[in-house]
Amino acid sequence: MSAKDPAPFADPAGTWNRRFAEDGYLFGTAPNAWLAEHAGVWRPGQRVLCVADGEGRNSVWLARRGLHVDAFDISDVGVAKARRLAEEQGVAVDFAVSDCDAYAWRPAAYDGVAAIFVQFADPALRARMFSNVVGCLKPGGTLVLQGYTPKQLEYRTGGPPYVSHLYTEPMLREAFASLDVVELREYEAELAEGSGHCGRSALIGLVARRR
Ligand SMILES: C[S@@+](CC[C@H](N)C(=O)[O-])C[C@H]1O[C@@H](n2cnc3c(N)ncnc32)[C@H](O)[C@@H]1O
Repeated sequence: MSAKDPAPFADPAGTWNRRFAEDGYLFGTAPNAWLAEHAGVWRPGQRVLCVADGEGRNSVWLARRGLHVDAFDISDVGVAKARRLAEEQGVAVDFAVSDCDAYAWRPAAYDGVAAIFVQFADPALRARMFSNVVGCLKPGGTLVLQGYTPKQLEYRTGGPPYVSHLYTEPMLREAFASLDVVELREYEAELAEGSGHCGRSALIGLVARRR
């Protein structure tokens, strides 16, 4: 996501379809590192939802770990590539093409939710999405979330160019006040997630459990 795109949030399906129409995988095929580091919170056989899963790197990796995975994304081009990745890697993921607001969120259905770089959401959409994320977790279910902090606007190595879309620790604590925070950390790292997230990055990671 970058300021180069004219009104990048005006036509999210079209914008992301164009990005994902390029050869290769924009964010690579390896899982996000924060997710890989914390996926041990879920046991094989448990059910996890991947929110805005893009080209499937995270959902496919979780399915390879023996989880039952549902995933959705607004981009049909991204989901088609995700389906191919799952097939190539011999795993099943229940993919859907859907906008975040239109998704058929199932109440208290999931042992886990992975929300990795879902910062397309402005504050109003984010409030609705986070409420759905909490609501779809079973009691005891765990959210693993990764995003960028406002400092990322200095690095410009990925993520939206708008401060209102970025996360801080107090903001996530307040947004997920109904969950027990297991870990919440702002940190910096060199990302090498395809060409989409590449270079020094100002990150935030959250792991939080539904009571
Ligand atoms: C930065 S990418 C991250 C993709 C994936 N989570 C990953 O880490 O590889 C953001 C994703 O959000 C999706 N997206 C954007 N707006 C959306 C919306 N309103 N509803 C659902 N997905 C959306 C895009 O298609 C894109 O796949």
